[in-house]
Amino acid sequence: METIFSGIQPSGIPTIGNYIGAMKQFVDLQNQYQCYFCIVDEHAITVPQNPITLRKQILSLAALYLAIGLDPKKATIFIQSEVSAHAEAAWIVQCNTAIGELERMTQFKDKSQKNGRVGVSAGLLTYPPLMVADIVLYNSNLVPVGDDQKQHLELTRDFVERFNNKYGQNKQAILVMPEVKLAKNGSRIMSLQDPTKKMSKSDDNIKSFISMLDKPEVIRKKIKSAVTDSSGKIEYDPFHKPGISNLLGIFSAVSGRSLNNLEIHYENAGYGEFKTDLSEELVKLLEPIQVRYNQLLSSSELDRILDEGASSAQQIANKTLIRMQNAIGLGRKKKR
Ligand code: AMP
Ligand code: TRP
Repeated sequence: METIFSGIQPSGIPTIGNYIGAMKQFVDLQNQYQCYFCIVDEHAITVPQNPITLRKQILSLAALYLAIGLDPKKATIFIQSEVSAHAEAAWIVQCNTAIGELERMTQFKDKSQKNGRVGVSAGLLTYPPLMVADIVLYNSNLVPVGDDQKQHLELTRDFVERFNNKYGQNKQAILVMPEVKLAKNGSRIMSLQDPTKKMSKSDDNIKSFISMLDKPEVIRKKIKSAVTDSSGKIEYDPFHKPGISNLLGIFSAVSGRSLNNLEIHYENAGYGEFKTDLSEELVKLLEPIQVRYNQLLSSSELDRILDEGASSAQQIANKTLIRMQNAIGLGRKKKR
């Protein structure tokens, strides 16, 4: 069976962008693949985090993973910092990656430009090697992510090729070559307030995103105030009509209806009616998730699932780490 790995940072409450671009796929994939879904808390600390909030968000994300329908009997759900092989393998990856490669990453360029390069942490630069480590440790074949992670996956593939060529003996690959898996529809959901920008859970303007824990009234308000245009026509045209096209994309992804079907249905309708229907579709999706989420947060089940997840993740991750250390010549030769 092929293996899937993906991670989400506990840097805020996931948005419907995270859900449509990544989490929704996770639920479908758990039935056909060996799946590892990680709460990547070590990635979250590449930018400042409040310790109390961070810990809360880690558990909150774990509860959300389960609330959307991930089944711990099918998929391994765990916290990155509870499997020490991630940080150890990341060091090896860093030492086999050029600084230039990392400086070219658009996510690094964006974040370091926004905050001034001198003030950002070194971890922000070495964030992709940690992601490479996450992926290779589980011999992952496929990595379901949103569009913004494509470049990090290309870096991962470059690394795997380089590492295997350099250290593989007799053409035997040490690491598995992963492939990116983008959502067919909705791999880049845009901000509700500025539809030229990606929707992000860490956006300062909370009106720009729908969080998965937003209450129905908040969802309705945020959709109502979403930026559109003055033409009044409900058409999918991301270049000329980015606002309404983004809303159409969200509607299509959460309802399963095609863009074309929606355009025809709303041909003679106004933005108001369309937005009301979209809000109700989102409420219908999120309300039951929120009920399950609240039940899980107050149960002891979560701890047990995360303990079991960490111990099964450790077993496979440690094996790959030993394979990497042996290939490089670190320490004394270890038995697998
Ligand atoms: P992050 O919040 O950066 O940890 O992202 C977790 C996952 O959600 C990654 O696979 C991202 O690519 C995906 N993602 C984040 N924001 C969006 C968005 N606006 N649209 C689609 N996917 C997204
Ligand atoms: N960098 C990803 C993001 O911000 C999160 C992530 C970390 C990840 N490690 C990963 C995603 C491994 C897929 C695979 O969205």
